[in-house]
Amino acid sequence: MGTTTALSDKDRIFTNVYGFQSPDLKAAQARGDWDDTAKLMQLGQDGIIDVVKASGLRGRGGAGFPTGMKWSFMPKEPKPGKPNFLVINADESEPGSCKDREILRHDPHKLVEGALLAGFAMRARAAYIYVRGEFIEETAALRKAVAEAYSAGLLGKNAAGSGYDFDLFVHRGAGAYICGEETAMLESLEGKQGKPRLKPPFPAGAGLYGCPTTVNNVESIAVVPTILRRGAAWFASFGREKNEGTKLFQISGHVNKPCVVEESMGISFKELIDRHAGGIRGGWDNLLAVIPGGSSVPLVPAEQIMDAPMDFDGLKALGSGLGTAAVIVMDKSTDIVRAISRLSYFYKHESCGQCTPCREGTGWMWRTMERLREGDADVATIDRLLDVTKQVEGHTICALGDAAAWPIQGLIKHFRPEIERRIAERAGRTMLEAAE
Ligand SMILES: Cc1cc2nc3c(=O)[nH]c(=O)nc-3n(C[C@H](O)[C@H](O)[C@H](O)COP(=O)(O)O)c2cc1C
Ligand code: SF4
Repeated sequence: MGTTTALSDKDRIFTNVYGFQSPDLKAAQARGDWDDTAKLMQLGQDGIIDVVKASGLRGRGGAGFPTGMKWSFMPKEPKPGKPNFLVINADESEPGSCKDREILRHDPHKLVEGALLAGFAMRARAAYIYVRGEFIEETAALRKAVAEAYSAGLLGKNAAGSGYDFDLFVHRGAGAYICGEETAMLESLEGKQGKPRLKPPFPAGAGLYGCPTTVNNVESIAVVPTILRRGAAWFASFGREKNEGTKLFQISGHVNKPCVVEESMGISFKELIDRHAGGIRGGWDNLLAVIPGGSSVPLVPAEQIMDAPMDFDGLKALGSGLGTAAVIVMDKSTDIVRAISRLSYFYKHESCGQCTPCREGTGWMWRTMERLREGDADVATIDRLLDVTKQVEGHTICALGDAAAWPIQGLIKHFRPEIERRIAERAGRTMLEAAE
């Protein structure tokens, strides 16, 4: 097991996450990016995949799938006319998530160099970076970095003097959360409506334009050059077993200093907040609940999250998840039913409408949540709502259905007395009004 205490500056991968320095190529090179990239590529394609596997890196886009293993699913000998592709997911639309944008606008060369290394390892002819539609300045910063890399011979023919030809394209979406789902992203890149595909086939078999494709999150790719430079053992020296590495946490909500910060995986929630976010607004006794991984994961009540290790397995053990590590902190001033109802509205709004349980269920769940917010229901409605969430969960083409169900399940599991109190209070008011 590696260390799970605070990360020191010398071990930070993202040294310009706050944009104190320039994002341009010269400044990035001064920070160590593009330092003899060709030498890293001499590890060979399988050699790079082995290092990434040994580092323990798990995907930073939410699901935590082991990155090296995912890369190893790609064909080792692409068929003529069917090149391999890498697609980098910069759609970042999950409420609470705001880490990829910091990489795009302040440290884009980490991503561009990572794209070359990951693309080379997977025998990809090219990579596409799909950027969230609203990220206008971020896209401009990224495009500038890509242009700088082409001018310096780091991309294109004989990229970085490695003898490998590799192109990188930047594509800005139109601002739809569903296009962050990997197969919807492929549809959108192909110029169609961003609607998830049925799987199988999985993208590694038939992805972009029917060719073998791997989709990875921005952070997953941007950490690769540093892992290759400093070694798998160094990366794996942080965090607990099967949860290794450093991670960008995004702390928002009722803390004194909301921030994005790189930390060791497995750091405790309390240490993360005290060290970087200035503690909870109004003190620790004022903490109500936390959504630890972006809006899709179930909330965790204050007393359970306090000492929890902030990693995939630690939060799974609490019935929640690390997701994108977007930590949404809610103090006791929060109307928790309203907060979760607002998330339900988001999922209803973002459903692509392809499958009935999601199309109909997200709307029904949101309308029911609104009634519960006002206490305008009976207690049986809570059970009916829970039942509907279970009918949506696992019965849809993509995980948006699960993402819509889980926050409500978390609310009912931990705050049922509060929902019942509202129902009783409203019933009491109604009786009083009738008596008057
Ligand atoms: C509705 C929905 C939205 C998603 N949005 C994103 C996103 O914005 N960024 C992202 O990296 N992954 C997102 N994902 C996960 C991707 O489908 C995919 O698992 C991820 O990009 C894989 O990268 P990784 O292995 O590096 O984590 C989303 C999934 C779903 C179901
Ligand atoms: S679960 Fe929802 S968002 Fe996903 S494919 Fe089905 S309708 Fe579309």
